[in-house]
Amino acid sequence: TKKLLIDVDCGVDDAQAIMIALAARNVQVLGITCVHGNTIVENVCKNVLRVLKVCGRLEIPVFKGTSKPILGVSIDAGHFHGQDGLGDSPDPSAPGMDQLQKEGAVEAMVRIVNEHPGEVSLVATGPLTNLALAIRIDPTISQKLKGLYIMGGNTESRGNTTMCAEFNFACDPEAAYIVLNDYLCPTYIACWEFTCRSKLPWEFCDGWLAQDTKKARFMKAIFSHSMEACRSERIEKELVAGQGFISCDSYALAAAIDDTFILESDEVPITVELSGKYARGMMVLDTLDILKKTHKATVMKKVDMEKFKQMLMDSLK
Ligand code: BDR
Ligand code: CA
Repeated sequence: TKKLLIDVDCGVDDAQAIMIALAARNVQVLGITCVHGNTIVENVCKNVLRVLKVCGRLEIPVFKGTSKPILGVSIDAGHFHGQDGLGDSPDPSAPGMDQLQKEGAVEAMVRIVNEHPGEVSLVATGPLTNLALAIRIDPTISQKLKGLYIMGGNTESRGNTTMCAEFNFACDPEAAYIVLNDYLCPTYIACWEFTCRSKLPWEFCDGWLAQDTKKARFMKAIFSHSMEACRSERIEKELVAGQGFISCDSYALAAAIDDTFILESDEVPITVELSGKYARGMMVLDTLDILKKTHKATVMKKVDMEKFKQMLMDSLK
């Protein structure tokens, strides 16, 4: 059984990733930690509880985490995910905030990783603020993780939020810097350009959502807002010809639960630009080994899309 901790800023693709984890056999979700990002952290908590309720898994502990980046001001992605992060299609019977754990997300991360040294894979699909603070509180956790799976960053300086930065790194560049300079466990990155190149055809998406299940109806409701944006937005024209559906966060999750999911990757030391007029928050690949870092990250290039489709289908069954 794979033990997972999932750190999210629960927008629509984070919800999709969580649902893949919940549907997977041999996966134990030890907890879900919430961080600011796509929306305010309170909404993130509510959204995670909603997802767990739809999946009948409210026994999984949910922890509220940081509401702001380490420096600077918060940015959100309400224009894409909806102001509430889940397509602005509220559920009046959604679980209340009293369902949250009393313990904070950062403390919970430190505790859970220490309770299972070498066994926990952490999937981070939002800004890395919680993890950066957890590493600062207990630097040994980056060594005790079995693996770290991050959705974020970019490899060709193409931003989706600022000119040169991907959303999760742009939200908290300092946190991304801390995590990517202090980690000592195998680290896997699903970066922006890779996810754009790994689109699924809209026909797949239509069939996926057409499943006659409660989970599929929920997904359809929360996804319509960003689906509209996706079908019309400039990301359609970027990097690859043709239309398609990108579930960015799900690639990181899929890699964490299936060791054969990644088919091609680059092993490269990485860091993050913290200053610069245009490039703050950009992921930097040290291919020349100038920094002499001891650890390399695995940057995904090609994954098993048939498996990915199957995971997505199973997640709504
Ligand atoms: C990332 O930004 C967020 O809006 C998505 O949830 C994903 O984690 C993609 O850049
Ligand atoms: Ca996310």
